[in-house]
Amino acid sequence: MPKITAAITAVQGYVPEYVLTNKELEQMVDTNDEWIVSRTGIKERRLLKGKDQGSSVMAIEAVKGLIKKRGIDPKEIELIICATVTPDMTFPATANIISSAVGATNSWGYDINAACSGFLFSLVTGSKFIEAGQFKKVIVVGADKMSSIVDYTDRSTSILFGDGAGAVLLEPNTEGFGILDSILKSDGSGVTHLHQKAGGSRRPPTHETVDAKEHYIYQEGQAVFKFAVKGMADVSAEIMEKNNLKGDDISWLVPHQANKRIIDATAQRMGLDESKIMMNIQRYGNTTSGTIPLCLWDYESQLKKGDNLILSAFGGGFTWGAIWVKWGH
Ligand code: UT7
Repeated sequence: MPKITAAITAVQGYVPEYVLTNKELEQMVDTNDEWIVSRTGIKERRLLKGKDQGSSVMAIEAVKGLIKKRGIDPKEIELIICATVTPDMTFPATANIISSAVGATNSWGYDINAACSGFLFSLVTGSKFIEAGQFKKVIVVGADKMSSIVDYTDRSTSILFGDGAGAVLLEPNTEGFGILDSILKSDGSGVTHLHQKAGGSRRPPTHETVDAKEHYIYQEGQAVFKFAVKGMADVSAEIMEKNNLKGDDISWLVPHQANKRIIDATAQRMGLDESKIMMNIQRYGNTTSGTIPLCLWDYESQLKKGDNLILSAFGGGFTWGAIWVKWGH
């Protein structure tokens, strides 16, 4: 029996209409366009506005587009995994809300929270159901409404994040295309540097937690930066070495979009030219679970069958990892 791999057979993204520019942020906090662009690479980000609009709104648009693009019946979908740190509700899973909205009535699903590595963790998880021969159509969607947990009076975080979603369809392949290898890592000691203090079971919401702004992202930027540069570069180099891949063998680095400087350091370590880096941080900022599928969506027209892609991320937890994908269409 030929080996079954999980190939990405379609990709689709969605970003909301509202554009929050660096200029507008200059009116909100003590910052400036020059600082933001030189320290992060971000020029603007998208925000999902409106009452009762959760991450699922964006995920549903991405998944509907994906289904239409691939020309499948939503009833063929067997599993939907949603990567998110900003679920619509604590429970049920956002994946459930997505399934029913897109008409995937034969599918089951669940959410995965691995912060900025959520899409990678979900992609590997989804691929296992395909490789095992259990399912033929699995959707992995990364969606985050980061504006729901950003303090827009805090200049150190408000400039970084945006809202967005991206989805991929995984299908079996027996010709050696798709997800070929992965290295995923977690280190819980990183929790102190990047987290949301309240809202979970340890500190349920109270008037005090709201007044103390504990429902927003807490990030020690410099500490996270150091871990991120090392973590993302190391794991990307590690997956190349493990599979005997040289810089020339790699067509694209598909990095999590947290900071252009972290991405550049990773590419340098991999021996990759700037032209091989997928980058859209300037337009969307850090959309957490959305960054990697949104990159694939933006660059899809430039991808060729057989291209070697390294997907790489680092995020809260800490969590990090890299995936080797051979593009199959
Ligand atoms: O995706 C999840 C993982 N997250 C990340 O990977 C993020 C990692 N961290 C970073 O990307 C960077 O640390 C930041 C972009 C968050 C900050 O950049 P930095 O180069 O580390 O700046 P810094 O925190 O060391 O601050 C340098 C200076 C400080 O002023 P002083 O003390 O030197 O006078 C800050 O107060 O820049 C100041 N500053 C700002 N100035 C203008 C901090 N934020 C701003 C701002 N505008 N928005």
